Amino acid sequence: MTATATERMSSARFVRSLAEAMGEALSSGSVTRMLVPPRETIEDAAGAKFISMPAVSPDHDLYINKVATIVATPVADRGATVTARVPMFSVSTGRHLGTLDGETVTNVKCAAVTALVTDRCAARDSRVLGIIGSGVQARQQFLGVSAVRDLAEVRVFSRTGRRAAAFARDIATMARADGAAVEVVVCDSAEEASRGVDILSTATTSAVPLPISADLPAHAHINCMGAHTTESRELPAELLRTSVVIVEDLATAIAEAGESHAAAVELDVLLGPGSAGFAQRRTVFASTGCAYLDLITCAHVIDHGAAPTTHG
Ligand SMILES: NC(=O)c1ccc[n+]([C@@H]2O[C@H](COP(=O)([O-])OP(=O)(O)OC[C@H]3O[C@@H](n4cnc5c(N)ncnc54)[C@H](OP(=O)(O)O)[C@@H]3O)[C@@H](O)[C@H]2O)c1
Repeated sequence: MTATATERMSSARFVRSLAEAMGEALSSGSVTRMLVPPRETIEDAAGAKFISMPAVSPDHDLYINKVATIVATPVADRGATVTARVPMFSVSTGRHLGTLDGETVTNVKCAAVTALVTDRCAARDSRVLGIIGSGVQARQQFLGVSAVRDLAEVRVFSRTGRRAAAFARDIATMARADGAAVEVVVCDSAEEASRGVDILSTATTSAVPLPISADLPAHAHINCMGAHTTESRELPAELLRTSVVIVEDLATAIAEAGESHAAAVELDVLLGPGSAGFAQRRTVFASTGCAYLDLITCAHVIDHGAAPTTHG
């Protein structure tokens, strides 16, 4: 994928149009007609993971499989621990249509589904966003939330001050590029970054619940991108218990997160009358990732002429 195509996919306009495509696929029944088996993860004795996430859509005439490796320990000078590719095939002809970079697909998918959910769950006049974490997904959280709400202030927290400061600068740059004036405040704790915010994004690799402020408004909407399993979770159980929990796929969520997600609602509920009043309630989008959103993302990339690239 060219740098220009990747940049275009990082724009608020692309994120909004992909969020709309996701909403359309959910409300038209296209998602229900997809074949999406549970993702498969093979783990070797050293802890390296080999992941396969297939999805087939007759409506989109598309079969994809997001395949990824996650190394057990970072390799010197190698950068990311995750390597992912998404080969795409036509359902009707069986032809290989190209292969997209998996990280690019994942990133724009996360921003777009965040935009979709935030737009339906956050109060219309939400102005203050808190972000915990300063990595790849933290940036996608700013992109997704700012695509659907006019933010006045973003509070960020990350344990490493240097990363928090760089992230704050990136937010200011992204906001300027979108013509928005946003005050960015670097906070000293997760508690401070979450206190009183309208919208909270958690995008960390923390394996234990983050110390989120008890002073979270009753209308606050939370996008949780990090760990969600019974062994490792980013949000306190009590917060999940007292919120409306929204997930991409209930079966995946229950299999991975257990009872805390048993009463969760799926994304399609957000598009109908079942979500009336969500903007006044505490809502948590507990994202597990699901291949049907990757498929919609690939279809959108193809439709918008971002040329698929086959990698060696
Ligand atoms: N739901 C999905 O579809 C999806 C897709 C991709 C990734 N993810 C998940 O999203 C999470 C973030 O991924 P990423 O790619 O953004 O990772 P990343 O680039 O490595 O960033 C991780 C961030 O977590 C912060 N962090 C770790 N422990 C923390 C703690 N206890 N308190 C506050 N901050 C903490 C780190 O900053 P400091 O070290 O400075 O604190 C860093 O900024 C991961 O759990 C990943 O698996 C989910």
